[in-house]
Amino acid sequence: MKKYITLLMIVLLAVAGFIAYDKAAKILPFYEQLTQPHVGTEVDLQRVEQKDAHYVGSAKCKECHKKNYEHWSHSQHPKMIQDIKKDPSVVVADFLKLPADADFKLEDAVYTVGSKFKQRFMMRKDRDGKEDYILGNYQWNVQTQKWQHFKPWKYWYKGAYPHDNHALPTSRACDGCHFTGFMSREKRVETGISCEACHGPASEHVKEPKSKVYLASLSDPVRQNEVCLQCHMRNRDIRLRDHNLSTIAGDARDYPFGYEAGKSLAKYKLVAPFKGVETKEFYANGMGKKNRTQGNEFVHSMMGKHGITCINCHSPHTLEPTAQHNTGNKLCMKCHTFGSPIGPHQGSLEAHTHHKANSKGSLCVECHMPKVGRHTGKSPLTVRTHLFGFVTPDETLKYNMPKETNACFACHNTANNKRSMKTLQSDLEKWGMVSWDKR
Ligand code: HEC
Ligand code: HEC
Ligand code: HEC
Ligand code: HEC
Ligand code: HEC
Ligand code: HEC
Ligand code: HEC
Ligand code: HEC
Repeated sequence: MKKYITLLMIVLLAVAGFIAYDKAAKILPFYEQLTQPHVGTEVDLQRVEQKDAHYVGSAKCKECHKKNYEHWSHSQHPKMIQDIKKDPSVVVADFLKLPADADFKLEDAVYTVGSKFKQRFMMRKDRDGKEDYILGNYQWNVQTQKWQHFKPWKYWYKGAYPHDNHALPTSRACDGCHFTGFMSREKRVETGISCEACHGPASEHVKEPKSKVYLASLSDPVRQNEVCLQCHMRNRDIRLRDHNLSTIAGDARDYPFGYEAGKSLAKYKLVAPFKGVETKEFYANGMGKKNRTQGNEFVHSMMGKHGITCINCHSPHTLEPTAQHNTGNKLCMKCHTFGSPIGPHQGSLEAHTHHKANSKGSLCVECHMPKVGRHTGKSPLTVRTHLFGFVTPDETLKYNMPKETNACFACHNTANNKRSMKTLQSDLEKWGMVSWDKR
């Protein structure tokens, strides 16, 4: 009899072990990434082979990397800045409706800035004998299909520039992130975000492919993210570390001037301050009020802290997933399993979400990436948070966030599916899902 019990115990242990392994199995391929040693934020990782290289532009890369080029060319990255003379159809704004007090006409505009959420216009206005641009005083809101006032000096270093959009040069406020080559060399080598923005200037590689270029995925997670964070983050000019704004008046930069892929990003900028209280850019729980806060949020998220990276989810060339091309729960389930150590803790989708499996209320992003930010003050909520986690209705109110930013409320605010913040909070309490993550 004893023999049988021992045998039974062994079998049971083996089964339990197998189940535990099975539940954790999906995250195991990422084990090396999550546990690898970090080199620190100061080390220069740019390839020595490219130290004297210059920017050559994506047309050169296309010759040998057709597939990457193809993927990239259909993404939003190359479309950030577009030349109106080359292709007038890049203008999505309706100039027939442009208000009479606009300080520009379509003929004055050289480049469009953006096209998906909002479109702004760049006019040539040189500065100290160098090619430079200014922005028109109206912007087109793609979502509302209306023109609205644009006062860039209000958002970019108020106090460092005169309160006049004709006195705010895009060379200081924008161009580092929207052209390729401007960030480090002040040359508009290519419009939009192209290959060398993430792989660094690569003229030596083009001459001799054996001469390697920077490949972010070979670096540890913190350094890997830097190629994205050079742009997808709210920043401050590095000189503000030991200068005040008035001493850099007329020159303050809103991007990490001097940075090239692989270099130490920390040496080129300060991160927009967040100290747990509400600011113009963030709510008191760290969620962004505006666009371009993905980096600020993600570095504070549990996934970011534990070594998950932007390119674990986004293809660096197609950029998918996006709002238009989203693979749904499949993306999250690449690593997560129900009942697994990294969660969700419940055994099934319905047990975790308390919504039917085929309901919108069972989509991971709807609860863990609610829309909390706006592209302009008059835009609808479109910017999904990259803090992940979950914000309860009570927390939404506590942090002074609009009700509409709460995941539950956002869906339960329609006539046939209405529930108050209070009811939603008590739903969660009934489900026993408010205990976790007390930040
Ligand atoms: C003349 C052909 C050629 C051109 C032009 C070219 N490449 Fe390459 N590239 C190669 C070859 C071949 C490899 C593989 C080299 C190897 O594995 O040693 C490569 C590898 C790479 C890699 C991977 C590096 C790694 O460590 O695995 C990247 C990234 C890259 N190229 C980017 C670029 C970019 C950006 C451009 C344009 C500025 C470019 N290439 C232009 C031929 C080219
Ligand atoms: C937004 C940043 C970004 C841009 C823009 C970009 N890349 Fe990449 N690229 C990356 C990252 C990050 C990786 C590493 C992906 C991985 O290993 O999973 C990569 C990988 C590669 C590789 C090696 C792996 C592969 O897929 O073959 C090549 C070659 C390459 N890129 C070429 C290019 C070329 C050519 C362009 C422009 C047409 C370009 N990249 C634009 C970030 C970028
Ligand atoms: C040089 C600046 C720059 C770098 C580097 C950069 N981005 Fe972007 N990214 C932008 C800008 C600007 C846009 C908006 C483009 C537009 O709307 O035309 C954008 C858009 C995106 C989008 C939205 C695409 C869509 O279809 O709406 C994703 C996703 C994205 N980037 C991810 C990444 C990731 C991941 C990396 C790093 C591998 C990265 N970006 C590196 C500037 C950059
Ligand atoms: C530190 C880098 C950085 C700086 C500086 C910067 N941007 Fe951007 N911008 C981005 C990124 C990244 C995105 C896309 C991500 C997002 O919107 O959340 C973006 C998005 C945009 C969009 C929306 C694009 C679309 O297709 O709808 C517009 C318009 C825009 N920026 C204009 C400007 C202007 C004008 C300036 C200067 C006054 C500026 N930006 C400064 C990085 C930057
Ligand atoms: C855990 C997965 C995950 C990680 C990590 C992640 N993202 Fe995302 N991101 C998403 C998903 C999913 C969406 C699309 C949501 C939707 O359906 O609108 C998205 C949307 C975006 C968008 C807006 C796309 C659009 O259509 O407007 C940008 C920009 C972006 N991510 C940039 C980044 C950057 C930069 C990083 C790293 C700092 C990052 N993401 C890390 C999952 C991720
Ligand atoms: C590449 C693997 C990977 C992918 C893809 C991924 N996760 Fe995670 N996720 C993790 C890891 C690792 C943790 C950290 C678990 C821990 O240590 O507690 C985590 C933690 C979380 C947490 C809990 C901690 C917190 O506050 O952030 C949530 C919520 C979460 N993920 C949601 C998502 C969602 C939603 C998606 C899809 C958009 C997703 N994850 C995609 C690996 C991943
Ligand atoms: C209806 C909203 C909702 C949806 C949809 C949802 N979650 Fe959650 N999730 C929550 C809540 C609420 C918590 C916090 C639980 C608590 O406090 O006990 C949570 C917690 C988590 C955690 C932390 C660990 C845990 O189990 O508490 C992870 C990981 C997670 N969710 C992943 C996911 C993934 C992956 C998906 C998609 C398959 C998903 N969630 C869909 C509401 C949701
Ligand atoms: C993406 C949209 C969406 C989100 C986010 C969402 N729900 Fe729902 N909810 C629905 C839909 C649609 C239904 C209808 C039944 C179904 O599809 O399961 C529903 C049903 C419900 C019901 C059942 C109502 C009834 O009369 O039977 C409750 C309770 C509920 N949701 C609470 C919540 C709570 C609490 C949250 C936040 C954790 C939440 N929902 C998040 C869309 C959503």
